[in-house]
Amino acid sequence: MIYLDNAATTKVFPEIIQNVKIWSEEFFANPNSIHPNGQKSRRAVEQTRHFFSDYSGCKPEDIIFTSCATESNNTIIKGLAEKYPSKDEILLSPIEHKSVLYPVMYLKRKGFKVKFLKIDNSGRIDLDDLKKKISNKTLFVGVIHVNNETGVVQDLETIGKICKERKVLFFSDVVQSFGRIDIPFSYIDFFSVSGHKINAPKGVGFLKKSGELIPLLHGGGQEFGVRSGTENVIGILSIKEALDIWLKRKENFIKRSKNLENILIKQLKEYIPEIKIVSEGYKVPYITTAIFPDVKGQDMVMALGRAGVEVSSGSACSTGSPTPSHVLLSYGFSEEEALRGVRFSFEVETKEEDIIKAVEKTVEIYKKLKRFTGFSL
Ligand SMILES: Cc1ncc(COP(=O)(O)O)c(C=O)c1O
Repeated sequence: MIYLDNAATTKVFPEIIQNVKIWSEEFFANPNSIHPNGQKSRRAVEQTRHFFSDYSGCKPEDIIFTSCATESNNTIIKGLAEKYPSKDEILLSPIEHKSVLYPVMYLKRKGFKVKFLKIDNSGRIDLDDLKKKISNKTLFVGVIHVNNETGVVQDLETIGKICKERKVLFFSDVVQSFGRIDIPFSYIDFFSVSGHKINAPKGVGFLKKSGELIPLLHGGGQEFGVRSGTENVIGILSIKEALDIWLKRKENFIKRSKNLENILIKQLKEYIPEIKIVSEGYKVPYITTAIFPDVKGQDMVMALGRAGVEVSSGSACSTGSPTPSHVLLSYGFSEEEALRGVRFSFEVETKEEDIIKAVEKTVEIYKKLKRFTGFSL
């Protein structure tokens, strides 16, 4: 199997798999218990919190461990809405992950005004539009750092500066950039991270906050009262080790990904000249979405899976009938085009021969499916 779906999830690093067994024995106790074993778990959690706060330049108590980025995003968005009810406008990029978009739409149903920011020709937020729309009624500005479908990177530093000048809170989902590329942390008030996107296990994440948040979960008052629930000690240790490993590998990963991206795009264009690469030039090299002419993304993904290449389509399929991706629609693609997207995303271990083989299979399958255009598998 050639696994090119790392934007969906990553394999757990072998070092972490080995350590999970050791940590499970060593840090089995509840970190909220006051006996010696409980305090040992507590120290492990707090050392990890300090590691993340040092890394992102914030106070340790502003790092809140959660179960995933979806929980982090919901906690930030709904927590801010409850904390500052007099600010009833949200400025959001139209290319957010659903775990940001849907809680914001939930607030819209509760009476908040939601204004979407325009995207310019580079695929990035139109900064003039942001300056026009931001006001003292704005609860927060929300802009994803690296988009999970297209890989487009937003200029968080400039957006953050605009927000700071206007004294408006700035929130960014940095799930797809964390550990891989530099993040201008000092310009971001709130951000969210997910463990399983950086080779830690599923079920752990964290958020960084600035100031107070009204909690989503009430209970034992863990995580400074912001997120009740016993901390996932093993997950927390795993996500720290994952970042440690990424920090050693990220430069090399980006260099290698650029080479792989070049091969992927060049070869796809050579064999399928009508193919469209989304926002080429303004994206990270490790995520690429290609829009295929005539053939549905979902059909490509299923056929490629059977041929040993695991990728994903930009369209969500929750009910059996795929819906066009709101991200690709925001980039100006038609509904039909948005259903023809296929995403390739790399990992540290992805090799040149994997990409060459994947392109070979992709072209072969594309040609086969094209003969049956209009036919859905
Ligand atoms: C950009 C982005 N944000 C949030 C999430 C949600 O992450 P989790 O699975 O940890 O809830 C994902 C996962 O697909 C993502 O890619």
